[in-house]
Amino acid sequence: MRVIIETDADAAARLAARWIANTVCDKQDAVLGLATGGTPVRCYEYLIQWYREGKLSFAGVRTFNLDEYVGLVPDHPESYHRFMREHLFDHVDLKPENTRVPDGMASDLESACRAYEEAIRGSGGIDLQLLGIGRDGHIAFNEPGSSLASRTRVKHLTEETIRDNARFFGSESQVPRLAVTMGVGTILEARCCLLLATGNHKAEAVAAMAEGPVTASVTASALQFHPQAVVIVDEAAASKLQRGEYYRTVEAAQRQRLPVREF
Ligand code: PGA
Repeated sequence: MRVIIETDADAAARLAARWIANTVCDKQDAVLGLATGGTPVRCYEYLIQWYREGKLSFAGVRTFNLDEYVGLVPDHPESYHRFMREHLFDHVDLKPENTRVPDGMASDLESACRAYEEAIRGSGGIDLQLLGIGRDGHIAFNEPGSSLASRTRVKHLTEETIRDNARFFGSESQVPRLAVTMGVGTILEARCCLLLATGNHKAEAVAAMAEGPVTASVTASALQFHPQAVVIVDEAAASKLQRGEYYRTVEAAQRQRLPVREF
């Protein structure tokens, strides 16, 4: 796991955006796995800026989002379909037919989940999967206790996730209790996993993910099995890491050998 500590949330978001932009420039038909939530918003703003400056095109890119609430229509203000349109899709040259978000309104959710997995496989697999992390260590909506071999399916959200996401809905009672989410096993098949985490409230989850045991109680810890997992954090989210100085030393050397192109 490559842990990169940036000075603040903006620098972390910018580096994550550079990673995505590099992937797209190197492979114009790249398949991106995308995430929602508060954390990736700034990262998407950088991608939009570089697209507008003519440095980047998504015309050949296909995307798959991690998750969606069950029971929210795509136009619901808090659906992840809507989030993606507002924060990325409507502002770049991604073709709408090349953007996929799980269908939380499907009458047969199980077959919709199977079809989502098949669509990912049919695309040739995800080149770069962007991830956030929950305070309980979840990736996507793989709540504590999720199988580390899980595939796309319906999950019950935990009380903690419902409380955390109530800020977007106005009250806890309005947060859907179920979501469709890629599984941990699905995520681990991406060729590269890029996890972005910022803020003090993520420090414990980041430390448990990177330095704790691999456990279904912290589903992000499964990334320790991934050969290309990159974790970008700000100082605040890094504050509970035991090996922070080591990561900084390694990164200083890595950057000289493997520079991530500027945009
Ligand atoms: P956040 O969510 O970016 O809104 O903190 C992250 C997550 O729960 O995966």
